[in-house]
Amino acid sequence: MRVEDLEPDKFVREKVEEISAVVGTDCAINALSGGVDSSTVTMLGHSALGERLKTYFIENGLMREGEAEQVVSLFADLGVKVEVVDAKKQFFDALSGVTDPEEKREAITQTFYRDVFGKLVRESGAQFLLQGTILTDVDETVAGIKRQHNILTQLGIDTEREFGYKLIEPLVQLRKDGVREVAKTLGLPASVYNRAPFPGPALAARVIGEVTPERVAVVRKATVILEDELRDSGAFQCMAILHEDRVTGMREGKRDYGLQIEVRSWESKDARIATPTRLPYDVLERLSERITTEVPGVVSVTYNITNKPPSTMEVV
Ligand code: XMP
Repeated sequence: MRVEDLEPDKFVREKVEEISAVVGTDCAINALSGGVDSSTVTMLGHSALGERLKTYFIENGLMREGEAEQVVSLFADLGVKVEVVDAKKQFFDALSGVTDPEEKREAITQTFYRDVFGKLVRESGAQFLLQGTILTDVDETVAGIKRQHNILTQLGIDTEREFGYKLIEPLVQLRKDGVREVAKTLGLPASVYNRAPFPGPALAARVIGEVTPERVAVVRKATVILEDELRDSGAFQCMAILHEDRVTGMREGKRDYGLQIEVRSWESKDARIATPTRLPYDVLERLSERITTEVPGVVSVTYNITNKPPSTMEVV
């Protein structure tokens, strides 16, 4: 559905009715990351089901600094209880030794859907998982560009048979701009409906090579700096990426064979095409200065100037 054709009030009414009708007197669960898609689904689900929807924040060890605490507190203010599930070990075990991008995505998908949600569904007795898949996720996966972590039904995967629950995807007709309109209508704050997108595989989408707690910690630290420096840039999304190869650097007069961070900042409407932000040179210099001094081991910072396509926005 094009954003021009969207009537947000009507959309909310219809989706709340649809969710109520499909779930009936059963229960559902959903995972909330705090992004605009999962926040919107959480509010739609709670309007439809109230206490019969249980909302979880999955702490997969791949999220940004302080993310769990921020999401729990924001939704508490909106009257929605969010339970944090510590699944760090499961995700890092699944990612151990995996370097191929599609295998990493598959490991994350299986851990989310089979291990974590499968267990939550069994424990809670829920029959349904509500999730915020949007049209762009479907397009790119079906086109074979990238397996988005949340695409299952559209690839012919029967979640009921494989994982023991049915999926409900109320946002699947919309793109990001449409979801933002719906989020606004649902009374979510601007900090949510204007929030830059963040991928389901989280910081793992920004680690080239093996995803270990130590390597994610490097990206997490660089991300804090980047999001701080680019907060007012108006960019659609920005990201710090850890490369696999090391480069020769120098510190305190000695050779330091260290890490490389690539910075990307994107201008885009709906993530289908994108161009790099024309960041002022002094901003780039500040990023380089801060990342090389504040993130241990980093000796090189680069800025990506390639359009999507041929690039994609995330690196994995
Ligand atoms: P790409 O890298 O495909 O990213 O150009 C386009 C937009 O989608 C986000 N992205 C994802 N979102 N699951 C998600 O929920 C994923 O697996 C995924 N991969 C990329 C990305 O951050 C960007 O906004």
